[in-house]
Amino acid sequence: MEGASIFLFSLLVIFIIKISPAELDIISNSQFLKEGDTLVSETRNFELGFFRPDNSENRYVGIWYKQDTARTALWVANRNQPPPSTVSPLVLKIVDPGNLVIFNNMSMIWSSNTTTTSPNATAKLLDTGNLVLMDQQEKMMWQSFDYPTDTILHGMKIGIDYLRGINWHITSWRSSQDPSPGVFTWDAETNGYPESKLKQGSMVNYRSGPWRNLRGTGDSIFEKNLRYSVIITEKEVSVNNYAENSSHVARLTVNSSGELQYWAWAEDVNKWKLGFKYPTDICETYNICSAYGICNVGWTQQSCACLDNQKFVPRNQKDWDTANWSGGCVRRTPLDCKNGSSDGFIKKSNILLPDTEGTWFNMSMTMEECEAKCLKNCTCMAYALPDASLGGKGCVHWFNDLKDTREYPSNGMDIFVRMASSELEKVALSTSKEKDGANIKLILSVAVPGVLLLIGFISIWLWYARKKKKNNEQPMEGGNEELQLFSFTAIATATANFSTNNILGEGGFGVVYKGVLEDGLEIAVKRLCTTSNQGVDEFKNEVIFISRLQHRNLVKLLGCCLKGDERLLIYEYLPNKSLDSFIFGDNQIVNLDWPMRFNIIKGIARGLLYLHQDSRLRIIHRDLKAGNILLDHDMNPKISDFGLARSFGGNETQGNTQRVVGTYGYMPPEYVIHGTFSIKSDVFSFGVLVLEIVSGKKNRGFNHPKHGNNLTGHSWSVYNEGRTIELMDPSLAESCHPDEVIRSVAVGLLCVQKNAEDRPNMSSVVRMLDGEGALPTPKQPAFFIGTDLLDADFSSTDSNQAGSINGLSITHLDAR
Ligand SMILES: *[C@@H]1O[C@H](CO)[C@@H](O)[C@H](O)[C@H]1NC(C)=O
Ligand SMILES: *[C@@H]1O[C@H](CO)[C@@H](O)[C@H](O)[C@H]1NC(C)=O
Ligand SMILES: *[C@@H]1O[C@H](CO)[C@@H](O)[C@H](O)[C@H]1NC(C)=O
Ligand SMILES: *[C@@H]1O[C@H](CO)[C@@H](O)[C@H](O)[C@H]1NC(C)=O
Repeated sequence: MEGASIFLFSLLVIFIIKISPAELDIISNSQFLKEGDTLVSETRNFELGFFRPDNSENRYVGIWYKQDTARTALWVANRNQPPPSTVSPLVLKIVDPGNLVIFNNMSMIWSSNTTTTSPNATAKLLDTGNLVLMDQQEKMMWQSFDYPTDTILHGMKIGIDYLRGINWHITSWRSSQDPSPGVFTWDAETNGYPESKLKQGSMVNYRSGPWRNLRGTGDSIFEKNLRYSVIITEKEVSVNNYAENSSHVARLTVNSSGELQYWAWAEDVNKWKLGFKYPTDICETYNICSAYGICNVGWTQQSCACLDNQKFVPRNQKDWDTANWSGGCVRRTPLDCKNGSSDGFIKKSNILLPDTEGTWFNMSMTMEECEAKCLKNCTCMAYALPDASLGGKGCVHWFNDLKDTREYPSNGMDIFVRMASSELEKVALSTSKEKDGANIKLILSVAVPGVLLLIGFISIWLWYARKKKKNNEQPMEGGNEELQLFSFTAIATATANFSTNNILGEGGFGVVYKGVLEDGLEIAVKRLCTTSNQGVDEFKNEVIFISRLQHRNLVKLLGCCLKGDERLLIYEYLPNKSLDSFIFGDNQIVNLDWPMRFNIIKGIARGLLYLHQDSRLRIIHRDLKAGNILLDHDMNPKISDFGLARSFGGNETQGNTQRVVGTYGYMPPEYVIHGTFSIKSDVFSFGVLVLEIVSGKKNRGFNHPKHGNNLTGHSWSVYNEGRTIELMDPSLAESCHPDEVIRSVAVGLLCVQKNAEDRPNMSSVVRMLDGEGALPTPKQPAFFIGTDLLDADFSSTDSNQAGSINGLSITHLDAR
C-alpha cells in the first residue's frame, strides 16, 4: 500500500516537472536549460536562469541569490550579446567538446570559449554562486568566477592569473537596464605592490589601499565581516576582499554611476542591504591633496595639509590657502643625496600608505634591510612595511612623489619618508626627551679619550638631573591612574597661541582648540572660561575625578594644565566633527546610514549608562546634545563635556553671572521650570537626541507645517498613528531596518515623557534598544504643542528667547 502510493507520488512529481519550468541540478550533454528553467546550487542558495533587467526588452542568462525576488544579477553570461528581442526562446546547453553555449533560434549568441576540451562535460552551479564546467573526471574546465561582471562574491579575486593569462576585474553595467560594460572598473594595480583601484576609463577615482580592511573595524555585521588579503606568487597577483564568515552572503558591486558598494544579504527582510559605499568623503577622492599632501576630513580649516607641516611646504602657498591643492607640497630642504650627502628618514604614523603604482617590493625583507636598501638609492623616496600580518617582514619602496595619503588615526600605518640630513638633526635637538642624549653624543664625538672620565660624570649627572626633574613634574597621582600635567608653553605652541584658526568648537564651559604636540600627537584643548577662585588642588582633584571616567563611548581626558587663572583640559583628538554635522541639514559631511545611526544611538546609551550607574560616581551630564557627541574614525560615538557640570558649572557662587545650564530643545520641563535636575534630565536629552538621529531634524527649530508641532510632538503623532517610519530621514530608506527604527522612536518617546518618573533609566534604555525586555507604550510626551493647546506650564518668554538661539548652550538663566 505504502509502496504504491510512493510510486504514484513519484509519477506525479515527474509529471509536474515535465510540464512546469524545470529546476535542474546539473546540465549534461543530454539536458539543456530553456527560458523559465533554472539551474540551482546544491543547497539552493544560488540560482541561474534567464532574466530581463529592470523592464528591459533584452534577455540575459544570469546568476542571482535564490531568495532574492528582485533577482539582482550577480553575474551575466551574455552581457555583450543580448539576442534580438522578437525572436524565439533562448537555450543554454553544452556543446561538445566542452563549451557552454547560449543559442537563440539556431544561432549561437554566447560561448564560454573553453580552452580545454573534453567529451561529456557537465555544468553545475556551486554553493558559492560559481558556475563551473567540469570534465568527466570532475576537473574544472571553466568557471564564471574567472569572468566576473560587475560583482565580486566571496571567493572571486581581482588581479592577474599569469598561468592562464586572465585579468580578473569587474566593470559596471552601462545602466540598470543594460549589463554591457560601462566606464567604471574595480581592478588591481599590478605595476608595483598590488592594491585595488576604482577607475573611470584610465582615470583613478578611488583607491582602497592594500593596507587595511575596508573600514573593517566597525560594529555592524557588514564591517566586522569584511577582510582584505593580497596574494603574490609566481602564478598570480591578486587582491581579495572577502566576507570572513562565508555564511554571511555579501558582495562588492560597482554600480553604473561609479560607486563601489558593499552589500550584505539580510535574512530577516529577505533583501540585499547596502552596507557602505565608496567614495564617500572628500579624502576618498583620489589624490585630492596632490604630491606630499595628506588629507583628513576632520581638520577644521582645510581637508589637506602637507605631509609634515614644518618640513614640507606648499609648492604654491597662495593657491594652497584658497584650497587649491593641485600644486601639492615640496620638501623645505631639498634632498642632496646625489652629491654624496647622507639622508635619513622621518616616520609618519597613522596614515593610508601612498599610491603604490611604480613601487618596488620584496616581501621577505626585514625593516632594517628595507631601510638600508632605500638609503643606498637616491631615487628611493620612502619605504614602508606593507602588510602587518606577515610578522614584520615585507618592504615597499616609492620612487615617485607620494600621492593620495590620508590620516587614519585609529588604524593607519607607518611610512618612513626620505629627508635631507639637516632636517633630521633638527628633530633630534628639538624634542626635549632626546635632547640630553643628543648633546651627550655631540660631546662624545668631539671628545678626546682623555676626558672620557669627565664625560662619564657629566652624563650621570645629566641622567640624574633629568630623573629628578621628572619626578618633580609628573605625573599627578590619582589612584592607579596617572594624569599628565602639560606646560602652558607646550599647549600654547601646540595651538598656535590659541589661534582662532584652531578653534574646534565652543561649549558651555569654554572654547575648544585643536593642537598638535611637539611629538606629533593631536589633542583637543578645552580652555575653561572660569573666573572662580577655585584653588589649584581643588582643580586637580576635579580633573583626576573626571579622568577616572573611562569608557569607549566617552572622550578620553589626557591631562590638564594650570597657569595663573588659566585652566586647560587636554583631551584625545577625534578627527571627525560632532554628530550634528553628520545628521542635520545641508552641511552633512557623510550621510550616515541606518546601521551607523543605530550603532551611534546604542553607543551614546552605553556611555550615559556608564556615567549614571557604572562609574564609581554618579555623573549627570546636563548638556547632552548632538554637538557634544564626537565620532571617531569608525563612527563610534563618544560623549564629550561630561563631568564638567558638576565640577565647573554647578558650584559657582559669586563673581560670575554666567551660569551654564543646558541647551534649549534638550532640556526637560522640570529643569526649565524649577531648575531641578536628576539623571532623568539626561534621559530626556537622550530621548530628544534619538528622535533627532532618526529624523535628521533638530528638535529646536522643527515646526511641522500643518500643526505646528515640534519634533517630539510630531514624533508622538506619527507614532500614535502607526506611521512611525514616516519620521525617518528619507535618506535612510535603503539602509533602514524598520524594526529598529520603530523601536528607537518608541524608546525616544519614553525618554521625553513629561514626568521624570515615567522616563526609563539608562539601563532599561540599553536593554530596550538591544531588543530585550518589554517595551512599554509611551504616553504623550512633554513639549507637545498641538493645534489647540500649548502646555500651560511653559512661559512664552522662554520660547521666545529660545527662538533666537540655535543649538548653543544657554548661559543666561537665573537659578531658582
Ligand atoms: C568567444 O569567442 C568569440 C569568437 O572569437 C567571441 O566573439 C566571443 O566574444 C567570445 N566569448 C567570450 C565570452 O569571451
Ligand atoms: C558565521 O555566521 C553564522 C550566521 O550568522 C553564525 O552562526 C556563525 O557562528 C558565524 N561563524 C563565525 C566563525 O563567526
Ligand atoms: C628579497 O629579499 C630577500 C631577503 O633580503 C633576498 O634574499 C632576496 O634576494 C630578495 N629578492 C629580490 C628579488 O630582491
Ligand atoms: C634605484 O632604484 C631604481 C628603481 O627601482 C632602479 O631603477 C635603479 O637601478 C636603482 N639604483 C641603484 C643605484 O640601485
